[in-house]
Amino acid sequence: MLENHGLNKVIDEGRQGEAIILEGGTGSKKLYVESYGCQMNFSDSEVVASIMTKEGYTTTRNIDEADVVLINTCSIRENAETRVRNRLTEFKKRKAEQPNLVVGILGCMAERLKQALLEEEQLVDLVAGPDAYRDLPNLIDEVGTGQRAVNVLLSREETYADISPVRMDQGGVSAFVTITRGCDNMCSFCVVPFTRGRERSRDPLTIVQECKDLFANGYREVTLLGQNVDSYRWNMSSKGVLKDETIPTTNFAQLMEMVALIHPDLRIRFSTSHPKDMTDDVLEMMAKYENICPYIHLPVQSGNSNVLERMNRGYSREWYLERIAAIKRIIPDCAISTDIITGFCGETEEEHQETVSLMREVGYDFAYMFKYSERPKTLAERKFEDDVPEEVKGKRLEEIIALQLKNASAAHKSQVGKIAKVLVEGPSKRSAEHFSGRDGRNSKVVFPKGDSKKGQYVFVKITDYTSATLMGELVNHAN
Ligand code: SAH
Ligand code: SF4
Ligand code: F3S
Repeated sequence: MLENHGLNKVIDEGRQGEAIILEGGTGSKKLYVESYGCQMNFSDSEVVASIMTKEGYTTTRNIDEADVVLINTCSIRENAETRVRNRLTEFKKRKAEQPNLVVGILGCMAERLKQALLEEEQLVDLVAGPDAYRDLPNLIDEVGTGQRAVNVLLSREETYADISPVRMDQGGVSAFVTITRGCDNMCSFCVVPFTRGRERSRDPLTIVQECKDLFANGYREVTLLGQNVDSYRWNMSSKGVLKDETIPTTNFAQLMEMVALIHPDLRIRFSTSHPKDMTDDVLEMMAKYENICPYIHLPVQSGNSNVLERMNRGYSREWYLERIAAIKRIIPDCAISTDIITGFCGETEEEHQETVSLMREVGYDFAYMFKYSERPKTLAERKFEDDVPEEVKGKRLEEIIALQLKNASAAHKSQVGKIAKVLVEGPSKRSAEHFSGRDGRNSKVVFPKGDSKKGQYVFVKITDYTSATLMGELVNHAN
């Protein structure tokens, strides 16, 4: 999902498991940043790079030449944290040989574990939570004076609205733009409200300006990011925090329109939509503008209403299916993807089978599927027992992965013979003679280059498919 970001990805393990490294800048001190977790973390790493380049740092891909090493981390599942711990142990060895090296941990794991990382484990010199990145230069100075530095204060207002993220992929095509931070939902399995704090929206004018700048710099696709983009709400009095109904506000549908109007050649995507909050006006806005991509990521988590209630998701199976029907009614050719958790507390075989039947009914184009991983302090950890045996979670996961492979193949098969409008992202991995890009529905499309160029829209007639990729022939250029 992140290849078109143009950043260097060192590990590819699925949506919340990738690591990327940034490179760029002109300063003399060298900064190495490695990122794990969701797109919001990658987007935050670009904000961090921006803050640090103003302080005279250059980002590097070569850890051997770094003066400061920062690792931007994820806490969503236990294995995400395990990987980071292993990495930190490697950094600790490096520090033993290079005592002046500053090692810092950022992001969700920093927020969750706070002091513990400094004191008990002594793995790092510096801990900065997601709302503390403006303080990084001071924290690094503190470390320079021999102290260990920590700032994990969560803010109700910080959106880094005025910071223009350093895009390391000069000549890139696709960029992420954060529109909300934090999350006010309390899904019982989820650690995000604890690591990212309260939800706040970013000033729409700064969002539009950032997207305009990206377009002027050759970008042709922006993905608007938030844990729940449908709850985006801004009014001047509230600074995006209070939700005062009496003052005119900008909602998500209106924000999308503001971005869509920048230029017809700027594609808009967004993530994540929440089934309880996704309204018809969002769908109607998508249908109105050709440059808002017909693709919705609508995580269901489970197909059973009792499980959804235990998860505190705020909707039932029936509500979710009604939202799917609304998508299909308003945007007939819309691609739909989802997230699913198997083996949540108390999940019976019958309840699991309802997830299977829902997947059959919806026929998702893509799905990200996970075994439930209990997270400290969450509602589920306090209220329910993590009682589905590991092997049952695994078996259920295998079952839904197999079904999804079939669904994805069927969805791709239905595209054969159609003409897709593809934004060219760059050479395909499998051959230098082929380009790879995405259609509006977010399918990867591979085709012989012809005379097309990166960053261009092309029309491709789909001739073949796998569950992961569409293959085709260039028909002509759209621009
Ligand atoms: N805000 C988004 C999700 C962010 S986390 C939403 O509400 O949909 C991304 C995905 O990770 C979730 O959709 C969920 O499927 C998965 N996830 C979150 N917590 C998890 C946990 N404790 N165990 C397993 N998967 C989890
Ligand atoms: Fe987590 Fe739920 Fe918020 Fe998504 S909406 S980030 S799953 S609490
Ligand atoms: Fe992970 Fe934090 Fe994102 S827990 S999924 S990096 S919001």
